[in-house]
This record gives sequence, structure tokens and C-alpha cells, in this order.
Amino acid sequence: MAETAEMHYLKDYRPFDFELKSTGLDVSIHGTFVDVTARLVMERRQDGDVQAPLFLHGEDLEILGIWLDGRLLAPREFLQDGQGVTFFDVPVSFELVTKVRIFPDTNTALEGLYRAGSMLCTQCEAEGFRKITFYPDRPDVMAPFHVRIEADRSLFPVLLSNGNPVKNETLPGNRHAVCWEDPFPKPSYLFALVAGDLACQKDFFRTADGRDVQLAIYTEHENANQCEHAMVSLKKAMTWDEDVFGLSYDLDMYMIVATNDFNMGAMENKGLNIFNSKYVLARPETATDGDFEGIESVIAHEYFHNWTGNRVTVKNWFQLSLKEGLTVFRDQQFTADMQSASVKRIQDVRSLRARQFPEDAGPMAHSVRPEAYLEMNNFYTATVYDKGAELIRMIHTLTGPENFRSGMDLYFARHDGKAVTCEDFVAAMEDASGADLSLFRLWYAQAGTPVLHVTTDWDEGKGRLTLHLRQDIPDTPGQKNKKPMVIPIRTAFFSRSGEQVLLDYRGKKDKEFLLVLRSKEESFVFDGVSLPVVPSLLRGFSAPVRLRIPLNTEELAVLLAWDSDPFNRWEAGRMLVERTFRQLVEDHRAGRSMVVPEDVIAAFQAVLENADQDPALAAEILNMPSEGELYHLLAAEKIAVNPLMVHEVREFFLDALARPLKTLWERTWYACRTQGAYVFRAADVSKRRLKNLSLFWLSRFPDTGFGWVERAAEEASCMTDRMAALQLAAHFHEEGSRRMLLDFEREFAQDALVMDKWFQVQALSRRENTLARVEELMGHPLFSMKNPNKVRALIGAFASGNPFRFHRKDGAGYAFLAERVLELDGLNPQVGSRMVSILNAWKTFEEPWRSEMKKALMHIRKKEGLSSDIREVVDRALA
Ligand code: PHE
Ligand code: ZN
Repeated sequence: MAETAEMHYLKDYRPFDFELKSTGLDVSIHGTFVDVTARLVMERRQDGDVQAPLFLHGEDLEILGIWLDGRLLAPREFLQDGQGVTFFDVPVSFELVTKVRIFPDTNTALEGLYRAGSMLCTQCEAEGFRKITFYPDRPDVMAPFHVRIEADRSLFPVLLSNGNPVKNETLPGNRHAVCWEDPFPKPSYLFALVAGDLACQKDFFRTADGRDVQLAIYTEHENANQCEHAMVSLKKAMTWDEDVFGLSYDLDMYMIVATNDFNMGAMENKGLNIFNSKYVLARPETATDGDFEGIESVIAHEYFHNWTGNRVTVKNWFQLSLKEGLTVFRDQQFTADMQSASVKRIQDVRSLRARQFPEDAGPMAHSVRPEAYLEMNNFYTATVYDKGAELIRMIHTLTGPENFRSGMDLYFARHDGKAVTCEDFVAAMEDASGADLSLFRLWYAQAGTPVLHVTTDWDEGKGRLTLHLRQDIPDTPGQKNKKPMVIPIRTAFFSRSGEQVLLDYRGKKDKEFLLVLRSKEESFVFDGVSLPVVPSLLRGFSAPVRLRIPLNTEELAVLLAWDSDPFNRWEAGRMLVERTFRQLVEDHRAGRSMVVPEDVIAAFQAVLENADQDPALAAEILNMPSEGELYHLLAAEKIAVNPLMVHEVREFFLDALARPLKTLWERTWYACRTQGAYVFRAADVSKRRLKNLSLFWLSRFPDTGFGWVERAAEEASCMTDRMAALQLAAHFHEEGSRRMLLDFEREFAQDALVMDKWFQVQALSRRENTLARVEELMGHPLFSMKNPNKVRALIGAFASGNPFRFHRKDGAGYAFLAERVLELDGLNPQVGSRMVSILNAWKTFEEPWRSEMKKALMHIRKKEGLSSDIREVVDRALA
């Protein structure tokens, strides 16, 4: 661990004073240690500081020797500290060789080289390479790599690194070695190495220009039969990137390795992706539709990085969104093309609001291009990834699809093989499209979610409708009094009977308009409005803002039923629910009796009655906001959150909506039963979604609820249906519920990924004793604090997915989380920091929750030698 981590600022960026000509690594794997010899050929840059000493990063490295141009250096000839090593006197061009010893078996942070079961593997992004060897560990230093790996042949028959294998050596003592060469210069964060006894699934892909690329997925032997979906997904992604962006793969080999121990989803190392096995392994008996979807999109995401991230990489970590925002946008477009575009958009926006909006309103708020960080790992955030993708989407909307594609072409033509900035991307888009994006750039620099206020004026006599738009951008830590942003607003209008109407805007008749708000306030005038119309704004969620528009129930019902934009149909449903919920909250607080208006129920009833027209969309519309989403809704309106009250009001609302629809839900459940073998295809997925949503509603009826769940569990024939039933069963106290969980555990004890689900359903249980059960499950032989998937499945799911049971009034949930965070601080600070962030929203809660959460944060802060990951979050939360 670094001794004294320090703040890094974008404004302090300076290029490296040396050029790294080539990197040679010799990695020798032994019983309990690994020796790494690095051979760096360097040259001082003439345009740099010619006096500057040479500094190489390096952490937790035991030095075995350092040679400068072949001469062994004495310890006084360099200076080592917790961050790395400094050489004060190096010639203009030289070769530096360092030999260090590292200990992967005790590396529980899963950064650098670490043991994962029987294999050894690496994770270098963002700053993990410095735990493997001394190196200029920064993304703007790129070099071709030559890697030699040597190990015992029986324990490690497979030895992988980036690029192409160029040599095999047989050595005495049952040892062997493999050499790899990566011809594409790359930064250290894209380096990867894997050693183990692994099974390999092979296939090939023929590129558009007729080259054959070998595809290989490596797994532990027992999982060899679970790679087919990942392989199919990979080939789909390769085809799509050629078709849509004209981008082909560039090496002869594309390898993926699946490991059970991984901090994140997956990593795009050049030619050798390393994946959390959750995003590789699947078969119908063990994986849900959600798992299949996740695999398809993460495989695509990592593959797309080969161009957006690897061929063109980032100049410094402040530019992370250059590769992540763009690659998320690309994987979103891919999924939209493979599955249902409208469902994908709805789910992405829902997740943006649930994760990014609160982040943007909390203590860790930062711009898409952050200005400062203590620990880079803390900035792999929803803001950088998901808001970053929204920025790319707005550029796509503002320039149009053809110009956008030309902009991408220009971006690659200009920057292939280079490390660049978000500004370089915007400039390429601007130059290729002719669009003026000068004001738009503010989106990269200003944090906070803009609020877009809309009012309408209709002059019946003149047939003139005026939209008054105003934007407010809230202050965020370190940023006040912000400038207005460029907000693209796709707009249409509907008659009261649901027809999309043709209107006149600046002399042009059209059914849809792209309005662009560029100042604090602006009015937009439409003519030819002879009858009252309902505005449909921000269609497809054309900008990441909070829309405030006063539409009444009748108007929202028109959009819910008739909007030609499926996203805005869903959005109208959301607005209807949120308005109703707010009203109920007010009634509850004032001690009035709560009533859900008939016309609200009728609007949703109509959606269910017509569900067969678009089952996927209906399932999204009828899937009500979670308690967590309702907390955010209140917090955004500066109403302090009382978890008990939210629970009570939401339950009341759900009951009121469930009762009149009971027979409709029963009918829907029957109608959505699919026959035959499980296939992962959009039509079946949406039927299963609607069927399992029906089950959710049916499970709520006191007398018959559990019967429905049992019956669904009995006839479930795929994991999607089994999990839906098991999750609902886990809320009940019935003996049948206990038995289902036991049977499931017995059946799947051998399958780590399925057991994650088993831990998770119990962590999400609404039963009163859930905290005690979670504590008990920590002692389960299959649970481990060292495995991030297990920590997320049990502790993460409980603390962030089960707000009702986590936010206990006595603070026991918070105290539990604080202890886990302190434990993780010593094991895996990255995962610990994700867990502690759950407390970031403490200021949005009512007493006593607020004080109890704060107490937990203060308790964590007291620990001496807290990791920079957790310290940064806690300090900002308490600031
Ligand atoms: N770069 C990876 C991705 O987005 C995510 C990642 C970051 C993985 C840091 C590991 C460590 O695909
Ligand atoms: Zn990524």
C-alpha cells in the first residue's frame, strides 16, 4: 500500500520527460513468490525538462537488483519510497533493468498480480502495474511489450499475455516458458498475464477484409461447457463494430479469461481480456435472462474498447470518460440493436437516475472529466461511465447519425496510436460535423444534474403555443454559480385523443422537433395549434436532466397510452406514479387518509389490458419504483427521507393498485407462459418478464400469495423463472420458503455463481430478521470476505438493494456495514470503498437515521492507517 497517497490535479498534468522505447518483462513463477525482471529502453525527451530525475512508480516491491546500462547500482544510487524509485542521474539514452520479487498469494486487493483459485492473473487499470514492477505507470507512456513467462508445467500449463505467442521453451525441472509479443504500443494499464491450468474453448472470426482471427475463452475445467453464449456474443459484437463503425479487430488472436475473483465486471487488456466469470459463464439451467443480457453487453463493451480505449487511449486518468463514456454509448447502441431498443433505453435511464443522479447530488459529485482525485479507483463512477455516455449520446443527437459517424472516423484518423483527451474527441466531432460544440463542452466540466423547468402558454385565438424553458444547475462541492448548458430537447405534441400533431415551428411544419436550449431561459413558439395539445418533451431522454413539467393526470394518461416514443410512454407512467406518491406522502404527513385516485388506477389498468401489444414495454411500465428510487425522488425535492414512511406509503400504493387488477394479473400470468426449451431471445425474454411481474403482483395478496409463488416455483423450468419465484418466496415466513432455499442450496452448492444468487435473495428478503440472517450467512462455508462477488451478493445487496431492512431506526444496519467496511479496508479497499459509499446520502435522511449514518461514518474514520480509497469517500461524506 502506498505510504502517503496524495491528491492529483488535472491542472498539474505534465508530459513524461522520457520516451519509453520498449518494455521487456521476464516473469518467473515460483511456489510462494514471483520474480519480475523488467528491461526498459529509455531516452530523455529533448522537448522536456533535461534536468528532471527519472521517477518510476513501484509499490510493495522487494528489490533484488537494479542495473543501469548493465552496471549493478548500489542502494545509494537511487531513492526508494512508498510510491516508487527515483534516479537522479541517468544518461540521455539508457537501458534500465530492475528485478523485484512479489507475493501474489497474499494480494487480497486483487490489483497487480494475484492468485485467483488455482490461477495467477493480473489487474492493472488504473494503477496496478506499479505493484508488479517499477515503471512509468501512466497511460500516456506507451511501449511495445515483449513478455516471457516461466513456470512449473503441471501447475501452470497455460501461460498467457498480450499479443501473439512467439516462442515456447522446455526447461529442466518440469518447467516451461512462453514468450509473447504485442506489436501495438500500449500503456501499462492494458498489460495482462494469466498462468494456470485452464480449459480453452476455441472458435474463429473472419474479418470484413478476410483475415481469420482466433477466438479463445479460457475457464476452469469444470466450466468449459458454459462459454457458448459468450462466444456467440463476441462474434456478434465483432460483426456489429464492422457494420456500424467500420472497425475491425487488429491482432491474430482474441483471448478472454474468466476468473471468480475480480473487483469489477471485466477488463479490456489488449488481446487478453480478463473477466469476472459472472460475465462469461452461462447456461439456461443456471443463468437468468439478466445474466445472458449482462454477458452480451459486457463482452461487447470490452471488445469495443479495442478501438475506443486501446488503439486510442487516455492521456491521463482525468480523461477516463473519453474511453468509458464512449464505450458505454457503443455498447448501449449494440444492445439496442440486438434486443429491444426501447427497453434498453428505459433500463439505462432508470439506472442513471438511481445511481448517477444521487452521486451528482451528493458529497462525491464530480464532473464527467474530474478535476482531482486522491484514489483513482474511486472515479470509476456512474458519472464517468453513464453520464459520460449521455454526453456522447447528446453529441450524436446534435450532429445527427451520419455526422457522428464521420466524427468517429476523423477521431481515429487523427489519434490512432495516441493518448488523447476528451477535448480531442469533441474537436473531431466538431470538425467533421461543422456543429458548434463550444458551449457544449461545459458538460465535461460542470457537475450536477440540471433541472429543466417547462411551462406552456396557449393562445387559442392565434393558434399559438409557447413553451417557456428554464434551466437551473445546482451547486456541487467545489463548484458554484454554474453557467447554462446546451440541452437538446426532442419534442412532439399529441392531441387529447392521442394523435401526433403537425405543428409550425419557425416556418417549418413537422411532427417532431429538436429544440436546443442554450441559455438560462428561452421560449419556443409553435403555430397552427388550433386544439389543445399535450407536449411530449425530452423524448428518448435526450438530455440527462430532471424535467419539471406540470402535466395533469389526464394529459399524462394520453402520453402513457399514445406517445409514439416508447420511452416517453414509460416516462409518463413514472410521472403519474411519482405525482401520486408525493400526494400520498403529503396526506400521510398531515394525518389525512390516503387515497389513490381512480383515474391513476384506470391508466395503469389500460396498460395491462393492452399488454400483448408490447409485452416488454408493458412490463417496464408496470414495474413500480423501488423504495430506493423513491428516496431519491424525495431527496431531489429536499424532503428528508423517512424509510418507514416511504415503506408504508409505497405498500399502500401497491395494494391500491393491485386489488382492482387481480384477475387481469392472473390472466396475464397464464398468457405469458412459454412452451418448449429455454431460448434467450427478445420475444421470450419479455414474456418471462411480464409473467414474473404478474407473479410479483399476485404474491402480494395475503391469502393466496404464497400459493402462487409455490406453484410458479414448481413449474419453473429455467433459472429466470426459478429465481423470480425464489426471490418472492424469500420474503415469506412459511415453511415452504425455508424448504425452497434449502433445496436450492443443496442443488447448487458446487456452483459459485448460482450460490451468489442464493446469498442475494436472502439479503434482499423483507423478513424482519434479515440483518441477523445476513450475519449468520457470513459464517456459511461458501461465503468469503475475500471474494468480491460474495461481498456484493450478501453485503452489497443488503445495504443497497434492501433499504427497508438496512435503514433500521436503531442504526444496527449501519453499524453492521461499518464493521464490514473496516474489515474490507485491510483486505480489499476498492470493494470497501464501494460499500462505504452507500452511506454518502446520509444528509438526505430524517432523524434518527441521519445521525446514525453519520455515526457509522465517524466510526470508520477513526481507524488509523485507513486506505486512501475509503478515506477519500469518508472524508468527503463528512465534509
Ligand atoms: N476498464 C474496465 C471497463 O470498463 C473496468 C475496470 C476498471 C476493470 C478498473 C478493472 C479495474 O471495462
Ligand atoms: Zn469500459
